[in-house]
Amino acid sequence: MNKILVTGASGSLGKLTLRHLLDRRPASGLVGLVRDPAKAQDLAELGIELRTGDYMDPASLRKAFTGVDKLMLVPTHAFTERKIAHANVIDAAVDAGVRHLVYAPIIRDHGSTFSMKEITAEDEFTQAKLAESGLAYTLAEHPPFLDVITPYMGATPYENGVRVPVGDGRFAAASRDDLAAAQAAILTEEGHEGKTYRLTGGPSVSFAEIAKILSDIHGSPVPYVPVSDEEYLDNMRAVGFPDFAVEFVLTWVHGMNAGEWEAKGSDLETLIGHSPTTTSEFLRSEYAAR
Ligand SMILES: NC(=O)c1ccc[n+]([C@@H]2O[C@H](COP(=O)([O-])OP(=O)(O)OC[C@H]3O[C@@H](n4cnc5c(N)ncnc54)[C@H](OP(=O)(O)O)[C@@H]3O)[C@@H](O)[C@H]2O)c1
Repeated sequence: MNKILVTGASGSLGKLTLRHLLDRRPASGLVGLVRDPAKAQDLAELGIELRTGDYMDPASLRKAFTGVDKLMLVPTHAFTERKIAHANVIDAAVDAGVRHLVYAPIIRDHGSTFSMKEITAEDEFTQAKLAESGLAYTLAEHPPFLDVITPYMGATPYENGVRVPVGDGRFAAASRDDLAAAQAAILTEEGHEGKTYRLTGGPSVSFAEIAKILSDIHGSPVPYVPVSDEEYLDNMRAVGFPDFAVEFVLTWVHGMNAGEWEAKGSDLETLIGHSPTTTSEFLRSEYAAR
């Protein structure tokens, strides 16, 4: 009893969350939900129990959630049946007697009209489903992951500049590792039920400021070159992104330019107990060797 289960334990965020949970709880109290245990052998070697379950197979979820007190639902991939998957997890959590569920939607200001295909409608659905489930729950709202921002700024910024659609909004991406540490805090500390946390990193930056950071790292000017949406899409296609992915990336950039994920407050820092990794630190580690 009283186990903490994290879904998506074969994926990046689920794995990191379990690793941070290990700093706070013995492995015997932790469970990772996987479709294929072979993909999370590193966790099994640390003593974490792996249970097999598929979001599309409710019976497998009910079985996997037996004896679980707290559950982290790592959102599933875009371009899949996300509403069905998340509803199945929530229903199975209720059936299995889970007490507290943590979900990680994308950050959206109250009343925001910004929408992202495959993301925002599915998050709204999941939040409504949670609200009517009777479960205690916490929303750990995510900004864009720092770990994946480099393709957004154009494939070859050192050679061709930071070529992104025009806009001067700022955004505060956060590393998966900091987000996972915050989730581990929520899952192990008292008093997080019923709360919504806005887990922005910081400080916020615009793409023009990113060009300045890259200039500093590179030691020579990296220009900020605003381009049309059409040119941006063509450039992404030219480096191999498929059509559905280029449209998806463009929507993220529109959100960044609109200031949707600007830092407000310091929930992430408070939960993890130190300053989150900044965009500048991340870019320095990514581009230092280039
Ligand atoms: N904020 C952002 O910038 C941002 C960026 C990217 C993603 N995200 C969101 O954050 C989530 C987690 O990111 P991540 O980097 O950890 O993704 P990831 O590494 O791709 O992990 C996704 C996990 O979901 C599992 N999964 C997929 N379908 C499943 C199913 N039917 N049943 C059970 N498990 C299933 C995968 O299992 P398998 O290993 O078996 O496939 C994997 O463990 C993503 O899914 C996405 O919703 C956010």
